Amino acid sequence: MTDATAIFHDLMGAHRSIRRYKSDPLDPALIDAVLVQALHGSSSSGNLNTATVIKTMDAERRRSLWALHARQDMILQAPCVLTFCADTHRTRTWLAQRGARLGFGDLKSFLMAAFDAVILAQTAALAFESRGLGICYMGTTLFSMERIAEFLDLPDHCVPVTSLVVGWPAEAPSQRDRLPGALWIHDERYRHPTPEHIDAHYAGRDRRGWERYRNADPSLIEQMREAGITSLAQYYTSPLKYDPDLFARFSREIHAAIEARGFGVPPAPTQTD
Ligand SMILES: Cc1cc2nc3c(=O)[nH]c(=O)nc-3n(C[C@H](O)[C@H](O)[C@H](O)COP(=O)(O)O)c2cc1C
Repeated sequence: MTDATAIFHDLMGAHRSIRRYKSDPLDPALIDAVLVQALHGSSSSGNLNTATVIKTMDAERRRSLWALHARQDMILQAPCVLTFCADTHRTRTWLAQRGARLGFGDLKSFLMAAFDAVILAQTAALAFESRGLGICYMGTTLFSMERIAEFLDLPDHCVPVTSLVVGWPAEAPSQRDRLPGALWIHDERYRHPTPEHIDAHYAGRDRRGWERYRNADPSLIEQMREAGITSLAQYYTSPLKYDPDLFARFSREIHAAIEARGFGVPPAPTQTD
């Protein structure tokens, strides 16, 4: 093993999402330095760097974000929330200023910029973890996409796609399991999962996940009982976790936000075009 391989191995083994933080301050200059380093370590479509990161460190503004992120308390504890945005506004401004044809105002460009932003977020996450900092992604960014965009004064062609809470860990959770490679790494063609594959690979997960959720929050046991939930799978698509009806509503809102900010699907050209 080379030194780099050993360091990477240790870093992967050390990853945990951190949900409790110390109130110790975090130097904004350190965050900037890590982000700049992370961008260098991230691939980027056309090297256009169509990501923007907004740091929120002010306590009052973090409280506002907390409300927009389904009141996840780690936002109040950790000194910094980073919002990663898919941003072609800057690129379009550059194009216009150079007299070039304007582009990057469509769904394809949104996805391109969103990938840039998420790739950058994950590289930054690893870089923060390498310095002993804790991170947790905020999936709630997508739930409040338009309201977060307004709160951060984002221009057109710029939408938040994910966020990271960053701070000094006040907990040391054990590492979470993952699905085994045999289930999701395929050779040459897709291998459809059989009922036996599902049973073999999900059985341990069903058991561990069920125990973990119920132990984490005693009130959840009662809520699950009232809702008639008897398995981890049922829990996941119940109103207590990823409710499909709520997801449908969020999907409509995300679609509207992306379109309103200029990332819609242009009409197909007509024959006279
Ligand atoms: C895109 C994304 C969004 C997430 N959103 C949240 C969130 O809103 N709240 C939370 O507590 N954890 C969130 N997580 C963390 C996952 O729950 C966590 O990564 C997963 O349970 C595996 O645990 P680990 O990161 O400790 O290995 C998110 C993770 C990802 C990748």
